[in-house]
Amino acid sequence: MLILGIETSCDETAAAVVERTPDGRGRILSNVVHSQLDDHAAFGGVVPEIAARAHVEALDGIVARALAEAGVGLERLDGVAATAGPGLIGGVLVGLLTAKAIALAEGLPLLAINHLEGHALTARLTDGIGFPYLLLLVSGGHTQFVAVEALGRYRRLGTTIDDALGEAFDKTAKLLGLPYPGGPAVERAAAEGDPARFALPRPLLGRDSLDFSFSGLKTAVRQAAQSVAPLTPRDVADVAAGFQAAVTEVVAEKARRALKVFRADTGVPEPTLVVAGGVAANRAIGAALRDAVAAAGGRLAVPPPRLCTDNGAMIAWAGAERLAAGLVDGLDAPARARWPLDPGAAPKLGSGQHGAKA
Ligand code: KG4
Ligand code: ZN
Repeated sequence: MLILGIETSCDETAAAVVERTPDGRGRILSNVVHSQLDDHAAFGGVVPEIAARAHVEALDGIVARALAEAGVGLERLDGVAATAGPGLIGGVLVGLLTAKAIALAEGLPLLAINHLEGHALTARLTDGIGFPYLLLLVSGGHTQFVAVEALGRYRRLGTTIDDALGEAFDKTAKLLGLPYPGGPAVERAAAEGDPARFALPRPLLGRDSLDFSFSGLKTAVRQAAQSVAPLTPRDVADVAAGFQAAVTEVVAEKARRALKVFRADTGVPEPTLVVAGGVAANRAIGAALRDAVAAAGGRLAVPPPRLCTDNGAMIAWAGAERLAAGLVDGLDAPARARWPLDPGAAPKLGSGQHGAKA
């Protein structure tokens, strides 16, 4: 089964061709990602309108490259998958309508994919992991624990009640005058710093919940920076190290607890924690998660960075899994700015301005 996957929900224009064999294994034939980083860098973040226009300009060429690199024409495909949400609605529309046009013209089934499902299922493509497993999704838009029970069955165990972790890295970088995207810049600065110089809070660590909160930490970071302004490179490194140490401790401890809850719920003796999203690239967080998972008696799976960040292969793979299960969408499938993976999970108090963060 050959599936074309299209991803345009944020600032990556991406397309890929993925093969699924009858025994359920996956193989990536091509995976083309065009980052819009340069289009947005001057603004210190993603500008939705610029992103949508850039997707329109790039997507045809990216799809053509993905097909060419895979060595297949449209006539060889068995289905077309695209992210239908959640994400920046202009971009989602561009990708979804492109997929619909290809599906209509070629008479192919359409798979309208939840972007989070794409992240959630990637470890099955890369590591062949069986259901159920625990997912920690840590990106610029999401910070959540999800019990991945089966295809289409996702139970949220915890989420951020305000900012996403990647967002907290980006905001900390901005406060410290470091470049965008902030995650890698903060990690580099932190490597030179003293994490103990500034006492920063560990939000929600004392609470017996699997939820996160990062907006108070952001305020503490600002106050720490202001207390020693103007900042020397040493100050920047120390604040970055303090911030990274705080979030690393919180994430690792919550992961240990989440694995305990997941094991009690499922009865799986040695559960797997899958980490996905751009923040999974952070080495300090990765090392702490490795220790936490080992202490909890579980296994850790981290897909390679280029499959942890946004890409078309994860969308193609989710499409392949859905097509194999007979879960096809109509050409009236809507683009959705917000689309929780677990529809039963109540929005958290204090979450995003327009409702729960997806
Ligand atoms: O998954 P992703 O590429 O895009 C979405 O948000 O969907 O994640 C991007 C986020 C950004 O906030 C970026 O600062 C963060 O991941 N990030 C990192 C690192 N690399 C990327 N955060 C911490 N440490 C890193 N090394
Ligand atoms: Zn993503």
